[in-house]
Amino acid sequence: MTQDEMKQAVARAAIEYVVSGEIIGVGTGSTANFFIDELGAIKDRIKGAVASSEATAERLRGHGIQVFDLNDVDSLAVYIDGADEITLQGAMIKGGGAALTREKIVASVARQFVCIADGSKLVKVLGRFPLPVEVIPMAHATVARSLRALGGDPQLRAKDGKPVVTDNGCYILDVHGMQIADPVTTEQQINQIVGVVTVGLFAQRGANIGLLGTAEGVK
Ligand code: A5P
Repeated sequence: MTQDEMKQAVARAAIEYVVSGEIIGVGTGSTANFFIDELGAIKDRIKGAVASSEATAERLRGHGIQVFDLNDVDSLAVYIDGADEITLQGAMIKGGGAALTREKIVASVARQFVCIADGSKLVKVLGRFPLPVEVIPMAHATVARSLRALGGDPQLRAKDGKPVVTDNGCYILDVHGMQIADPVTTEQQINQIVGVVTVGLFAQRGANIGLLGTAEGVK
């Protein structure tokens, strides 16, 4: 099984967690894209979706799924999204696709977080994947200094020589070299740095369900 086939398998398995007649929270990334394609096939069963990025909103609309503004929604039954790393306890690193802030916001109003990922994302300790931190542009250097003091090696995410700009008009620092033994504490510490918008550590609000694609099938 290729990595893409594993992503497709978990995306299909996640359909079981879609609650009929409800608005579904939908994540961002290649695995989430497979899920959106599966959702398109059952779109008549749901009322619509709240998207965690502009890219996801566009793909949902492409399938004829109504996209709701989160401000018009009280709560969501379920949020379904991928991850860059996940532990057996459900703590995750997210934000490889730069959508971490909206992902965290949409996930925060969902009663259940279903994480869909290929098996390579399962880790014992978070941190081999560089931890994304979304920052206010004028503060990226000062935030980087604070992250260095916590033991990380932050690098400003760039493309074609220019900083990557998120859907929220902010920058991303990718923090290398973190061994995150206590994800809840690290999430709190980074949240407290002035200039940080969101840290891509999802520990205080982790996944309730993790569907992992493996060579032996979905676990
Ligand atoms: C997007 O910002 C991320 O949080 C993604 O959910 C994460 O990077 C996983 O992406 P893939 O499904 O593409 O591996």
